[in-house]
Amino acid sequence: MTGFQEKDGVLHADGVSLSQIARDVGTPVYVYSAGVIEDQYKKLAGAFQKALPKHRQPLICYACKANSNVAVLNLLQGLGSGLEIVSEGELRRGLKAGFKGEQIVSTGVGKSQSEIAQCLKAGILQLNVESLPELEKINAVAAEVGIKAKVAFRLNPNVSGGGHSKISTGRKGDKFGIGIEVMEEAYARAAQMTHTDPVGLSMHLGSQVFEVAKFEEAFSKFPEIVTKLRSQGHSVKTLDIGGGFPIVYKDEQLLDLDSYAQWVNNIIVPLDTQIITEPGRYLVGGAGVILSEVVFVKETETKKHLIIDAAMNDLIRPAMYDSYHGVEPVQNRNAPWATYDIVGPICETGDTFSQGREMQSMKQGDLAVIKTAGAYGASMASNYNTRPMAPEVMTKDGHYAVIRERQTYEEIIGRDIIPDWSSKKTKAAS
Ligand SMILES: Cc1ncc(COP(=O)(O)O)c(C=O)c1O
Repeated sequence: MTGFQEKDGVLHADGVSLSQIARDVGTPVYVYSAGVIEDQYKKLAGAFQKALPKHRQPLICYACKANSNVAVLNLLQGLGSGLEIVSEGELRRGLKAGFKGEQIVSTGVGKSQSEIAQCLKAGILQLNVESLPELEKINAVAAEVGIKAKVAFRLNPNVSGGGHSKISTGRKGDKFGIGIEVMEEAYARAAQMTHTDPVGLSMHLGSQVFEVAKFEEAFSKFPEIVTKLRSQGHSVKTLDIGGGFPIVYKDEQLLDLDSYAQWVNNIIVPLDTQIITEPGRYLVGGAGVILSEVVFVKETETKKHLIIDAAMNDLIRPAMYDSYHGVEPVQNRNAPWATYDIVGPICETGDTFSQGREMQSMKQGDLAVIKTAGAYGASMASNYNTRPMAPEVMTKDGHYAVIRERQTYEEIIGRDIIPDWSSKKTKAAS
């Protein structure tokens, strides 16, 4: 039994009762199905296997900003995935999970000195460069550590691709990438520098890109610029075509993966480069839920508030992007329907998962899941309201393991320091 399914009236993950997990680990808790992650990886790899020749299969570099738990990374590494990182922290997680340097690509508009140095020392496949000042910095850091940096330039295609303005990254005014008009200059500059080796181009349009036509519009900028660069004597060995593969949160019409892969075969494969992709959400989003307990059902004159113990610090997406997440009870799944505003305990009206949601009626102490929370849930979590970060659990074939423990209050509060000069210090300490 793979994924989230009802068994004997109770919701299970990979055959493990979610009631059991709540009893053992407490709530709120993230629960990830390893079975679903594996299936998603195989589906994506399978679409490429069908459409692309064997020698041009892409390196699927999981964009671990979606979910960076080391156990999740380790699972994907075992399936043959590479890794896309955007910080030194993610690099460290990737190395801990078992990725080799040559399986890792690094993106990000504000790479730090230390991040660049660590990437170079780890021997990563390429640094995706987002600006000319960054190129200069990479060259300087590379000279310091004595390792030539393989750089790929992130092309800003000026195409609006993402499913929400805040997750669209390919428009001209966005902070990402380099305009096509300066690409030749950037490539030439990297070729002249002592410690950079320009190896290719990259692109990432945004997240939740539903239409193949959007990818097509953006990727169709590649052939002309690749041909131009090659005619100027440069080599273009890699094309990183980014992520953005969408998932269903409610009733969205999904990208047709087969026609996407077919298009990659028609346009990217003839350019004769190594191909890299960077899926994040697609691999892990639907694999995770937040398991939460109903704290109270608060009835007012106008509304019923279902107050659960998960909050916006555990899943910021509804507050940040107005995003939809399904909510379901773990037990009593055939209860009569009711209408709720589903909210967390945080002191913000924005701490609302859904307004006017029709679902099975629930009572204090019942368990609910917030669905499709495997991507950009735990990885965007915070300690707002001094709430400890929730633990993470992974399920597989009827078993579960805690893959991150619940944060302790000491871990959060213990880092605060009252300065010596504070008049309150003696009082607080005494
Ligand atoms: C450079 C880059 N690559 C890949 C991704 C992954 O996107 P998604 O999770 O939509 O596949 C992101 C997401 O922000 C990104 O910024």
